[in-house]
Amino acid sequence: PNIFSDRKNSLGTNLHIAAMSQPFYEALAQWQTHQWQGASMINGKSTGQKNRDVQSPALHSDIVGQVNDSDAQQVSQAIEVAYSAFPGWKHTPVQQRAWLLLRLADSLEQNKSELIALCVREAGKTLQDSIDEVREAVDFCRYYARQSELKFCNPMVMPGPTGESNILGFSGRGVFACISPWNFPLAIFIGQIAAALAAGNTVVAKPAEQTSLIATRTFELMFEIGFPTDVVQLICGDGATVGNTLTSDPRISGVVFTGSTNTAMRINQTLAARTGSIVPFIAETGGQNAMIVDSTALPEQVVTDAVHSAFASAGQRCSALRVMYVQEDIADRVITLLKGAMAELKVGHPSHYSSDLGPVIDQAAQTKLLAHIEAITTSGQLIYQTPLAADAQQGYFVPPTAIEIEGIEQLSEEQFGPILHVVRFKAKELNKIVDSINGTGFGLTLGIHSRNEGRAQQIAQRINVGNVYINRDQIGAMVGVQPFGGQGLSGTGPKAGGPQYLLRFATEKTITNNV
Ligand code: SER
Repeated sequence: PNIFSDRKNSLGTNLHIAAMSQPFYEALAQWQTHQWQGASMINGKSTGQKNRDVQSPALHSDIVGQVNDSDAQQVSQAIEVAYSAFPGWKHTPVQQRAWLLLRLADSLEQNKSELIALCVREAGKTLQDSIDEVREAVDFCRYYARQSELKFCNPMVMPGPTGESNILGFSGRGVFACISPWNFPLAIFIGQIAAALAAGNTVVAKPAEQTSLIATRTFELMFEIGFPTDVVQLICGDGATVGNTLTSDPRISGVVFTGSTNTAMRINQTLAARTGSIVPFIAETGGQNAMIVDSTALPEQVVTDAVHSAFASAGQRCSALRVMYVQEDIADRVITLLKGAMAELKVGHPSHYSSDLGPVIDQAAQTKLLAHIEAITTSGQLIYQTPLAADAQQGYFVPPTAIEIEGIEQLSEEQFGPILHVVRFKAKELNKIVDSINGTGFGLTLGIHSRNEGRAQQIAQRINVGNVYINRDQIGAMVGVQPFGGQGLSGTGPKAGGPQYLLRFATEKTITNNV
């Protein structure tokens, strides 16, 4: 592949076109009962005996494979390998590193039916979400390859007095710990790794326990296409044992994390307690995302976008809509349409073409979400709850639920699932609402529906979030198109899939020469 050519986003598979979907379904079928094996990979070698079955969140009887979880000693071994590999990788030409990422992107596309099947079975993601997952992973590899070539190939020549040269160069920082979530088990997992590698770091990656199989399979593909085995290490295991050992190790020079705000706080404290270094920390965390709908909005469009933003991926996106504020003049109409749209939602096994949403990730998530629904319906008013099919007992399903409440202040924490809270407001309260959304301290996405362009822009300026979406849905940021990430409790930046992201993974050196 030519890394100098213009990058394009991956195309994916259009399930609405039979000529495309038929071969796709046939390719998927062969993975229906496959057993994958997951384990840490240290210097390219898989570790230990498998010690845990992986059950699909969509169907208790579907065992997807087995995983071996690592202990603290293996974490240390993995760090040592990556630490020793750093000087060599740091001095590997930028184009060569980028070329490997482009080859990985191609390999992910070539193996997409297997990866999609894994996303469906291990993570419970719908077919459409799984297709999009692979596309995003491919996009991250190509985008960061291209960005590294643009940013790091040639040092920047700075202006200076005659007779003096001033050169600014970039290089890797060392070993980066890449800690990724289960809700984007391929895209965010590989996005973090691709960025760290492209900037010249070596990597110890720790995927979420729930999605170790996808991570392991991706590592196998990386080694198949020629990544040096000492440059990327995989550690499977739980956050308490493995994650903590990783972040407290003095050989780790940077941490990139996507997951809950609480875990980010803990990592931040661990890093702060380390002596001998100040460790860069890139965190992308949760949100309490709102949508503001004023009386000029089109109710049909509002409901289409709100339903997609709140319930797609079973609400398990950090960008997902949690609280929709609707101006009272059109609230009844919007709520009536919302009930109708929710009655049409199909909750089912994620491998079915007709399923709009699948299960949540595990029993703990299901229990927490159902408890929230029960608690909030005692003070709020249930608008609608989409019924679940009889066989939903066989997986961790949560019914899409809409509840009318008084305000965002009633919600003490993010509910990471298919629950939409609706609040009515009066025109004069608009600024107060924006301030109360800001008052949560989170700042990830905000949706605005208004045909008053001036008002939409005014809200967009006043709100403290990383991504504002006007008159559309508020999920599914595209790599290189909508750089994604929040502020405040929602993250540190820089934005994933944006032009500044790689710079935080690199260290800079200015060489001034009195020639
Ligand atoms: N990048 C994802 C989205 O935009 C967030 O998790 O939906």
